[in-house]
Amino acid sequence: MRILRYVRAGLLAAAVSAAMLLNACGEIPEQYAYDEEAPSLREAYADYFKVGAAINSWNLEDPESPEYKTIAKQFSVLTLENESKPENLHPEEDRYYFDKFDLFVDFCEDHDISPRGHTLLWHTQVPDWFFRDNGHDASAELVLSRIKEHVTTIVSRYKGRVKTWDVVNEVIGDDGPLRQSEWLRLVGDYDGDGDDYDYIETAFIAAHEADPDARLIINDYSLETSSSKAIRMYNAVKKMLDDGVPISGVGFQMHIGNGVDLDAMRENYRIISRLRDDYPEFVIEVTELDVNCYPWNAPPADVEVTKELLEQFSKTYTDVFTLFKELSEDGLLDSVVMWGLHDGVSWLNNGHSNYPMLITKELKLKPAFYDVIKLAE
Ligand code: G3I
Repeated sequence: MRILRYVRAGLLAAAVSAAMLLNACGEIPEQYAYDEEAPSLREAYADYFKVGAAINSWNLEDPESPEYKTIAKQFSVLTLENESKPENLHPEEDRYYFDKFDLFVDFCEDHDISPRGHTLLWHTQVPDWFFRDNGHDASAELVLSRIKEHVTTIVSRYKGRVKTWDVVNEVIGDDGPLRQSEWLRLVGDYDGDGDDYDYIETAFIAAHEADPDARLIINDYSLETSSSKAIRMYNAVKKMLDDGVPISGVGFQMHIGNGVDLDAMRENYRIISRLRDDYPEFVIEVTELDVNCYPWNAPPADVEVTKELLEQFSKTYTDVFTLFKELSEDGLLDSVVMWGLHDGVSWLNNGHSNYPMLITKELKLKPAFYDVIKLAE
């Protein structure tokens, strides 16, 4: 086993230094992510955490396609970007569409990859039928029974196969304890215990009953940059855990900008990791990592991709992977998923071309990819 690890490290070092040489000569490395001799993220980080991407089921249809080969070579965990969300999986009350999720789970099993389920409940990409009853608002009882049926049907179908679920997504408020959503408005404090977590609790309890061994995640954005949001997440999860709600971990989406304050970020991870004081098995996952090369309010026009921007981009990736390694060494983190297979398919191409991933739209490996690989050595 140990010998294998050394051989793997040696091969990795050789592949990386060949690519570095090209970089030093000012040339762009010509390796494709699926090339046999290219380094693999899943292999490089095998001793730390699983590495993955959000993909779409059409990437899995042709075993000869570069996308298929890239996914099989590079990743050990995968998320469906949109096709396992409520509007796609359960668009009508009495109708589920499982074909794409089935294909995804089969692919993962064939390639020794962990499939993640994303997401059982969200305030967007959710069909309106959940909230209506004969043209009126549905009652709290009806919404809760629909949540239970929805969660139970999906989680039990994949029992033992999908080991991790984003049970709820983006439920923490940006300036209050919880996001104002239809779920919250219609269910509220149903059990009268003084908090509004009831719809979230119902979802987690149903998921746990359907698959007691599944890891159940509460997933959100900006936890890594907003300490006040991290504290709101801590408070909500602590209260629910104390009430016996089966939450296994917090998902940090990590849609970040180009340049991070690593110390501040580390502190925000620590806020959530304090849940371990009372719940030692509690985990953290990185669920949607990407690096936006534009400011959030950038006008919809392309900017020049300068050398400085690319250097900053590599630094941002190596900074956060440095933090992930630390968290993994502390036993807190075992899964890092990036939100997209390559630059060309990222949700951040919004009126301008963005460059948020480690792989170009032609599926070539970027210098930042090699820097991240090197960090694992
Ligand atoms: O499928 C329709 C297509 O039929 C239609 O012609 C087209 C016209 O706009 O829209 C297509 O749907 C789009 C869908 O992605 C599939 O491509 C929606 O408009 C678009 O809004 C939707 O965006 C997704 C977004 O979630 C929705 O909020 C992104 O792809 C997806 O990457 C993004 O993912 C979220 C995570 O789930 C949660 N965290 C944030 C993250 C980024 O927003």
